[in-house]
Amino acid sequence: MTNNKIKEVNELIAGRSVEESLRLLAEKYKGKIAFSTSFGWEDQVITHLIFTSNLPVKVFTLDTGRMFNETYMVWSRTNEIYNQKIESYFPKPDAVQEMQNKKGPFSFYESVENRKECCYIRKIEPLSRALKGIDLWITGIRADQSTNRKDMTPIEWDATHSLIKYHPLFTWTLDEVKKFINKNNVPYNSLHDKGFLSIGCAPCTRAVRDGEDFRSGRWWWEDSSKKECGLHEHK
Ligand code: ADX
Ligand code: SF4
Repeated sequence: MTNNKIKEVNELIAGRSVEESLRLLAEKYKGKIAFSTSFGWEDQVITHLIFTSNLPVKVFTLDTGRMFNETYMVWSRTNEIYNQKIESYFPKPDAVQEMQNKKGPFSFYESVENRKECCYIRKIEPLSRALKGIDLWITGIRADQSTNRKDMTPIEWDATHSLIKYHPLFTWTLDEVKKFINKNNVPYNSLHDKGFLSIGCAPCTRAVRDGEDFRSGRWWWEDSSKKECGLHEHK
C-alpha cells in the first residue's frame, strides 16, 4: 500500500522539472499538500515556485519563538512580495512556560536531552498539528546538506506522520540554489551573506568558516552524530 503510493508519485513526476512536479502534485493532492519553510535558501526557491504559479499548497513555518530577527524579516518580506500569508504554527505556551520555569531560557546548552526536549516542544509538537490531514509534505532538504541526508531519496514515506515526503531540490547543489535565487530575484535571509549556511533558532545557530560543513553551524557544541532535531527522522 505504502510502496504503491510512493511508486505512483515517482511515476507521476518521472522526468519532469521541479516546477512541473510541484504543479502535478498540487493538483493530485489538492487540500492535502503542505510545504514547510524555515526561510533558508532552498525554502525560498520552493516558496517562489509555489507562489508565482499560485499552486494550491499550504505554506507554513514552525515559529519556535527563538528565531533570528533576520528570519522574521525575510518572512515578512516574502509575504509582501508575493502578496501571501505564510501560516505560522507556534509552540504550546504552557509547555514552553513550564520548561523555562523549571530549567531557564538556555536549558538546551546543558544536555542533548534538554536540547531534544526544547526541539520537541518548539518544533515537533507544532509540526504534528501543521501536518494534520496532510498526505504529502514538501521540504527543502538537499542530499549534500549532510552525510545522513545523502541516504535519503527525493520521495519517501514518513512513518511518523503517515504521509509522503517530497524534497524537490534533493539533487540540487548549493550553487544551483543560489543561481536560481539571483536569477529570479528571490528574497533571502540576509544572514546568508554573513557566513550563515543552515539557519535554525538563534541560540542554536552560528556562522561557519569557508570549507566547513553545511550544517556545522547548527548545535555546534554537540557531537555531530546527534545533530538532528527530529523533524526529519530517517531510519
Ligand atoms: S532541521 O531538522 O535541521 O531543523 P533544516 O534546518 O536542515 O532542518 O531544514 C530542512 C527542512 O526542514 C527545511 O527546508 C524545511 O522544509 C524544514 N524546516 C526546518 N525547520 C523548520 C521550521 N522552523 N519551520 C518549518 N519548516 C522547517
Ligand atoms: Fe530549542 Fe535550539 Fe531546538 Fe530551537 S533549535 S527548538 S532553541 S533547542
